[in-house]
Amino acid sequence: MKYSHVFLMALALTMLGGCNDDDDPVAGSDTPSPSTPGDPVGDNPGNPPPGGEEPTPDPDPEPVPEPRVDIDGLPLPDTETSPDYEGYVAGQPDYYTSISSTGFQNIRFRSVATEDNTPRDNELRNPVAKLGRILFYDVRLSANNTKSCASCHQQEHGFTDPAQLSVGFEGGHTGRNSMGLSNARYYDPGRFFWDERAATLEEQALMPIQDPVEMGMNLFDLETKLGLTSFYGQLFTDAFGDEAITSQRMALAMAQFMRSMVSYESKFDQAVQAELNNDPNPVLSAQEQRGLVLFEDLNCTSCHTTMAFVMDRNHNNGSVSNNDPDQGVGGNLAGFFKTGSLRNIAVGAPFFHDGNLPDLMSVIEFYNSGVKNHNNLSPDLRDRTGRPVRMNLTQADKEALVAFLETLTDEGFLSNPIFSDPFPPTTPDESEAGETAP
Ligand code: HEC
Ligand code: HEC
Repeated sequence: MKYSHVFLMALALTMLGGCNDDDDPVAGSDTPSPSTPGDPVGDNPGNPPPGGEEPTPDPDPEPVPEPRVDIDGLPLPDTETSPDYEGYVAGQPDYYTSISSTGFQNIRFRSVATEDNTPRDNELRNPVAKLGRILFYDVRLSANNTKSCASCHQQEHGFTDPAQLSVGFEGGHTGRNSMGLSNARYYDPGRFFWDERAATLEEQALMPIQDPVEMGMNLFDLETKLGLTSFYGQLFTDAFGDEAITSQRMALAMAQFMRSMVSYESKFDQAVQAELNNDPNPVLSAQEQRGLVLFEDLNCTSCHTTMAFVMDRNHNNGSVSNNDPDQGVGGNLAGFFKTGSLRNIAVGAPFFHDGNLPDLMSVIEFYNSGVKNHNNLSPDLRDRTGRPVRMNLTQADKEALVAFLETLTDEGFLSNPIFSDPFPPTTPDESEAGETAP
């Protein structure tokens, strides 16, 4: 409701004419720049003040009808568009999903046929995923209407957050780096988070909502809150047959939306397709091909596997030492972490669970010379005497590996409207990154 006040007031002032000196100070005084300068745009359509404080009473200009705000005073999404998630997922090439393995550049890549974690009772259906998308982008899921899932999982970054640690609804920071969501469905163990504390994606989807740092919302209150909108009743009916708004249904819907986020149209895919078609023109440059060969020769494929470059299970890659306070999965799997698909990894910096590595070259340098000596370090990253491997890569090798990883970027996925924000853009003033008027 504060959002609408700010917006209506800016709009009214604009319409009062003149206004050349007015709207900045208004936006500046009413939008108390709640977050850090790094806080990204567009993810946060409301951007109202944190905490409960009311803006100074304004002379309440005559209300201008604002079609983009719902009866609860919060943003109104586009509910007309019905994206075809089933069609998009069905568009995955055979080498990706079904053929047991495909040779490319003399390397064999398994398909994801056995990796899919979709449960039988939550198969992808368009109206459910449509609801999931709207929930995923809705700031109503946070206690003070400031954060949506997309605040920390941004499409153009492969659904992760460019910040090392994400900023939660009251300005607190998450304990770890956000995770990209490309190909979340192709993780056969089906567990989620760096430490795999969520047993399913359905279970995971309700955890950030209730997390005291991330969204701070109580599920019961959330059901009530969504019931006060003009549109969720219909969306739940379309998805589930009646308008009961339950957190369990929210979980099903968001999980379906996330499982529809499969990425299969990168330059790498074009190269595989060209080779399968016996197309004599190479798609990958010599440097990118060299990187691919190194990716296999250096055993990267033993953990980042299949055409989707997902993990087979959690691993200890020496990212932490024995006495690091964060041991990931922990227990007898101390130092083991999960990571997501390496598809779209080039837009997903910073890297690792702590977000400590700012770019891909730092990741390569980590594997080259920085693997730590953990008791549980994977044999794949030890030398013959059992010590952490030192790869002694040349600069050209490192650059080739980075170039190869960059071929996994899928621009179509990163800009596909079926995954984009269904809520209206914020006013130009509010959507300037981290900028507020002085
Ligand atoms: C304030 C930032 C923030 C918000 C809001 C947020 N997340 Fe996350 N998300 C994270 C962080 C940080 C992690 C990694 C946390 C960890 O592993 O301890 C994560 C991890 C995940 C993962 C695990 C991915 C994997 O491969 O294991 C999924 C799925 C996910 N989030 C979905 C969601 C959904 C759905 C929502 C909204 C209901 C949401 N997130 C809201 C920051 C956020
Ligand atoms: C023993 C298994 C294993 C091997 C071998 C391995 N990785 Fe990893 N990789 C991991 C794990 C586990 C993580 C997550 C570590 C963390 O966050 O602490 C990871 C993370 C990454 C990331 C960052 C992912 C993210 O979301 O932050 C990249 C990029 C990467 N690895 C590339 C490579 C390359 C290139 C090689 C080969 C030189 C390689 N990996 C070899 C297990 C492995």
